[in-house]
Amino acid sequence: MLIYLCHIQTINFIKMDFTDKNVVITGGSTGIGFATAKAFVRAGANVWITSRSAGNLEKASARIDSPKLKTVVSDTSALSGIAVLEKAVAESGNKVDVLFLNAGIATFKPIAQMTEADFDAQFNTNVKGLFFTLQQLMPHLADGASVVLTSSTVATAATLNSSVYSATKGAVNKIAQVAANELAERKIRVNMVSPGPTQTEGLDGVVSAEAKDYLAASTALQRLGRADEIANTVLFLASDHASFITGAELLVDGGAINYMLK
Ligand SMILES: NC(=O)c1ccc[n+]([C@@H]2O[C@H](COP(=O)([O-])OP(=O)(O)OC[C@H]3O[C@@H](n4cnc5c(N)ncnc54)[C@H](OP(=O)(O)O)[C@@H]3O)[C@@H](O)[C@H]2O)c1
Repeated sequence: MLIYLCHIQTINFIKMDFTDKNVVITGGSTGIGFATAKAFVRAGANVWITSRSAGNLEKASARIDSPKLKTVVSDTSALSGIAVLEKAVAESGNKVDVLFLNAGIATFKPIAQMTEADFDAQFNTNVKGLFFTLQQLMPHLADGASVVLTSSTVATAATLNSSVYSATKGAVNKIAQVAANELAERKIRVNMVSPGPTQTEGLDGVVSAEAKDYLAASTALQRLGRADEIANTVLFLASDHASFITGAELLVDGGAINYMLK
């Protein structure tokens, strides 16, 4: 136990160095993807971020304000959007060292009220888009690269009103586990980060202030997570410090279990 605690302490003080590594982040204009892009740039990486919106990417780029950041408008829910990203990466002539498949959306409603459009939008973005981005960028991954997929604690919970969203994240976990097996021969590690309730623009868009208070109170630490706390975990999983971790789901949830959105 003592050795284990020392190990955790050591991790706290490890400086993540990604100097000149090439990082691709889907959904990097706001929230967790944005915080992760910022952290990778600070750690010395060249970072590509995507989103559906040129305006949102311009704002993100202005906030990070670094020549190491590049943006691509790419709607991950459409194969044509993924092709734009694949072309940009191919034309750069660089291999990708870290792929963070993070773009995602959520709609919280009871099953009785969920529409076909709600279902398709969430599956097309969170599952189909993630799957085909992985497939299309696989030839561009460096041997020994790291892939991190954003899942969610709801993938393994039965949270009220999250039927379709939870199902998409359950699918993400299974894709990640199979990818970890398939890519192991190229020494590529594939892991999942599963945030609990985290303060982001995306969360603000789908839950009320009252629901956020409820979510915060449902964590052992009695607060929402911060996007930079998820980013730190992504950098750890992508780094050599996690060199024997693959196919793993790391929960970053403040000890949250069994919360329900009202
Ligand atoms: N916040 C939480 O509590 C929480 C908890 C667990 C898991 N997650 C997961 O964390 C990830 C990030 O969520 P967040 O909370 O940071 O939300 P966010 O602030 O809304 O960020 C989502 C990002 O994905 C992009 N995006 C959405 N649809 C896209 C599409 N079709 N193509 C390309 N980009 C797209 C958005 O960009 P544009 O809108 O500019 O296109 C934005 O950059 C998601 O996978 C989410 O499911 C979040």
